[in-house]
Amino acid sequence: MNTITFPTAEQLNKMQTPCYYYDMDLLQGTLDAIKQEAAHYEHFDVHYAVKANANSRVLQTICQAGLGADCVSGGEIKAAIEAGFPADKVVFAGVGKADWEIRLGLEKEIFCFNVESVPELEVINALAAEAGKMARVAFRINPDVGAHTHANITTGLAENKFGISMRDMEMVIRLAQQMEHVTFIGLHFHIGSQILEMDDFVALSHRINELQDKLEAAGITVPHINVGGGLGINYQQPEAFPVPDFKAYFATYAQHLKLRPGQHLHFELGRSVVGQCGMLISRVLYVKQGTNKQFAILDAGMTDLIRPALYQAHHAIRNLTSAAPAETYDVVGPICESSDVFDKGVELPRAQRGDLFALLSAGAYGEIMASRYNCRTLPGSYYSE
Ligand code: LLP
Repeated sequence: MNTITFPTAEQLNKMQTPCYYYDMDLLQGTLDAIKQEAAHYEHFDVHYAVKANANSRVLQTICQAGLGADCVSGGEIKAAIEAGFPADKVVFAGVGKADWEIRLGLEKEIFCFNVESVPELEVINALAAEAGKMARVAFRINPDVGAHTHANITTGLAENKFGISMRDMEMVIRLAQQMEHVTFIGLHFHIGSQILEMDDFVALSHRINELQDKLEAAGITVPHINVGGGLGINYQQPEAFPVPDFKAYFATYAQHLKLRPGQHLHFELGRSVVGQCGMLISRVLYVKQGTNKQFAILDAGMTDLIRPALYQAHHAIRNLTSAAPAETYDVVGPICESSDVFDKGVELPRAQRGDLFALLSAGAYGEIMASRYNCRTLPGSYYSE
């Protein structure tokens, strides 16, 4: 069922907090929606951006649904392959690939390296020669298209460190075509994350059309276009919108991006696949009366879910234990940092020590970004089934 289902009292009793809880039904429902909507179009290949969540159960479920894997490190390549993703569905992106990571990709014969600079291309060519292999490469082009999202997660502007400038695109393709151990197979783009305005994807499509026209005029064919990820989720009302609007998302590209005959369009979705199926479960340690506010102090902190501290992100909070009349709380963690605040001035059923709180929409960039700061233990994970 495509709803967010909270853990039962019995499940909660067994949990050691703080921990992540994954609603596997919702994950499956989300994957079904992706497959169903992408299947309306020929040659739409969906990859999962492993960086959003590399929990092994989550990865295996996504792999079984038939998605490919978008990896940004050797560790992610290993995690994806261990979870069962076939190497020929693995793409490897990242602005700073180390030699061992490139060698691993070559050894596994991954589908494609998304290359971000000329020096990187040269290293891939040299390492491929050493290994006696051919590396398939796509160039990540910086499309200079802004996205309406938080500045820390915008990536497609000229000022960002990512990608190769449009001006250099033809030159790098020609360079690759002259190299003996790389095969140029496509162009890669990514403009940012948590994007809810389809117009941003329309702008990217228009930019890609321009670039393709240019390359076509120069006699260069591009078998694969990869538009990255970025589709956002509803953090404000997760229960009402548990599954993102994949229909509108794919339709936007189908309508605006002019694919050439036989050309494949690749997507690298992270947040929209796993965001809503995960929640962080935490216990109230203390309710503290401040000078003019009251604090609910949780056993979870920014080490378990860093998004509020890092991006001022909003995660809806629910009190799973109490249905008492609401009071107003600043919900904070135990870490020795003033930014260790999940939310301020939240109305929640009156809380007391021992209550369990859920922070919703934490499936993406939650567990995977947890740290051991303050010598804390990493949060564990539990599943609905
Ligand atoms: N492809 C590339 C090249 C990317 O850089 C990213 C995300 C994705 C795909 C997946 O994007 P998604 O579909 O998840 O938006 N930690 C931040 C988000 C960082 C996103 C980094 N790149 C957060 O918690 O909001």
